[in-house]
Amino acid sequence: MRKPFICGNWKMNTRGQCGAELAKAVADGIPAGSQVEVGVCPPTCYLGAVGPAIKGTAVGLGAQNMLAEADGAFTGEINPAMLNDLGCQYVILGHSERRQFFGETSEGVSKKTQAALAAGLVPIVCVGETLEEREGNQTEAVVAQQIEGSLAGISAEQLPTVVIAYEPVWAIGTGKVATPEQAEAVHAHIRKLLTDKFGGEAAEKVRIQYGGSVKPGNAAELLGQPNIDGALVGGASLKAEDFLGIIAAA
Ligand code: G3H
Repeated sequence: MRKPFICGNWKMNTRGQCGAELAKAVADGIPAGSQVEVGVCPPTCYLGAVGPAIKGTAVGLGAQNMLAEADGAFTGEINPAMLNDLGCQYVILGHSERRQFFGETSEGVSKKTQAALAAGLVPIVCVGETLEEREGNQTEAVVAQQIEGSLAGISAEQLPTVVIAYEPVWAIGTGKVATPEQAEAVHAHIRKLLTDKFGGEAAEKVRIQYGGSVKPGNAAELLGQPNIDGALVGGASLKAEDFLGIIAAA
């Protein structure tokens, strides 16, 4: 059984104090004995403010990006050792907004994924097609390329630690959620790709999150699909009540 994993990606939102309050409200709202893994990924500059607010709770801390490199001359950047120092467990890698606006490639994501694993961080590796690619029947091919490229250099032993987030770009922040059938079809495709590349035993252990306009009202149906093992939540993770509703659905 794969443990469901619900993670909030706050993107470029919140401030230090309200972020700490939001994270604490989430932690306080998770029922005792919950079997759902929960994480929040605040903006980098607030990791230090949010971390202490959830220390010792059921909510883990994650970052939204990092470089793969060790300390050195990389102005404005952060690395895995810094995320460790801040108490992070997770790091989101290759989000479509980073691929789209910052030129990130699957090759770069694979370097970051390897660096995250080496540092003991759980990488949340994002893949997903644009609307144009979906309408051109390219979804499976695009996702296959992204999986292949982003997980290059990863071993079958390392794979179960990796979390994949399938986020159709057309569903991100648009209110247009993929139907449970559309999402499940791609998740099953990803599981098959992982099985072919790493073997069934490792592939069966990988959590594959869905992301794209997940809300309390649509979460249960999505999370009820056999290959949907959690959610990467943007907008709805900014309100404790909504995020807790999604956690409850899981
Ligand atoms: O990382 C999260 C996703 O981009 C989904 O964002 O829930 O606002 O659509 P959203």
